[in-house]
Amino acid sequence: MKDLKKASPSQINHIAFIMDGNGRWAKQRLMPRLMGHKKGVETLKKVTEAVFERGIRHVSVYAFSSENKERPVEEVKNLVSLVKEYLKRELKNFVKNEIRLEFMGAIDYFPKDAQEIINDSIEKTAHFSEKVLNIALNYGAQDEIVRAVNLAKSTTHDITKEEFASFLYTKNLPPPDLIVRTGGDKRLSNFMLFQAAYAELFFLNTLWPDFNENELDDILSEFGNRQRRFGKV
Ligand code: IPE
Ligand code: IPE
Ligand code: MG
Repeated sequence: MKDLKKASPSQINHIAFIMDGNGRWAKQRLMPRLMGHKKGVETLKKVTEAVFERGIRHVSVYAFSSENKERPVEEVKNLVSLVKEYLKRELKNFVKNEIRLEFMGAIDYFPKDAQEIINDSIEKTAHFSEKVLNIALNYGAQDEIVRAVNLAKSTTHDITKEEFASFLYTKNLPPPDLIVRTGGDKRLSNFMLFQAAYAELFFLNTLWPDFNENELDDILSEFGNRQRRFGKV
């Protein structure tokens, strides 16, 4: 019966954000796209802190998709630099606040120095279990599913969906209860296609750099009014 009750924010194990709209935020201000991405990193910091403050233990963010690699070389370079700066700057806070860092995506695409800081963030926070920040970098859900199929090939029996999930990048995370996309588009853009099966979806017109705690609270309260049926009656 418990699944049929209204959803409560205290039941949220995992919230995921598709952080979209940085470029348009900058364009509106006649600034280069990079400025939107910079402001977007500030929002990322504030929003993840707000999520953990509200007792939600797992937060995922879509920072760079496998398709984003096809953007102009300059923008890709800028995005990689911002990721490096963000991780270098925030690592001490992750450790202080006992946040475990996880990454999803093909990290081997990134230059060696970026991979080093990614691996450093993983290693220095690996012993934390209370709070998890999962960052999707060079991530595409279709690639993730194909990768899982290839990993699963080594098994000799027919696998269950739970076993299949253990071959996904998110093997240590519960499925997202909410997926929030800013920026006005109503699509998943190759994000968590397997994990999203019963996620509540929220699409906001707000551009990611403008997203704030008040809007997060509105989403959490709307989540509380939604009835999650999981296919039951
Ligand atoms: C999201 O903002 C950040 C990344 C995809 C890296 P965009 O860069 O997609 O911003 P818009 O959608 O062009 O406004
Ligand atoms: C989705 O945004 C990816 C990230 C937010 C990192 P995009 O801007 O890449 O998505 P599309 O191209 O509008 O679908
Ligand atoms: Mg976009």
